[in-house]
Amino acid sequence: MRLSFLLPQLPSQDLSSRYVSSCWSIGLFLFCALLLNACSSEGTLPNADSRGGKIFTAQCARCHGSDARGGQGPSLRSDTLSAEIIEDALIEGPKSMPSFAKSLSEIDRGTITDFILELHALDKEEKEKTT
Ligand code: HEC
Repeated sequence: MRLSFLLPQLPSQDLSSRYVSSCWSIGLFLFCALLLNACSSEGTLPNADSRGGKIFTAQCARCHGSDARGGQGPSLRSDTLSAEIIEDALIEGPKSMPSFAKSLSEIDRGTITDFILELHALDKEEKEKTT
């Protein structure tokens, strides 16, 4: 009895307009998500899919940032870093950085050093393209 009394309070037109507005909000949400993604792609690693990139993401990103621009540790995208500086840091583990002398093989340390230097070259290329 009571229920059938309440039902007419939900006219079908109201329902469909609610449906339309929820579609709009989902659409708006997706649009924002896409926009955010497009903006943040600048902060990603151009060579993330390489072997060095995978080691970086697994071992270094938590301190140096997922885009290597720094976090707890300094940015690794500064071209003042040479192969020697990077390899020394990996072996010695300055300050709060752990040493990777044992946890990474010499080959992997070389791969990650090449990865960082490649990142500098790619950054330089990108800079030249835009100026
Ligand atoms: C626990 C956090 C942590 C991890 C993990 C870590 N680092 Fe570091 N790293 C640091 C900190 C902090 C410094 C700065 C030390 C200092 O001030 O001397 C640093 C310094 C460095 C430097 C020297 C930078 C310079 O300007 O001289 C290099 C190169 C480096 N890290 C590379 C790496 C690589 C490659 C990895 C992954 C294999 C890695 N780090 C993992 C925290 C970390």
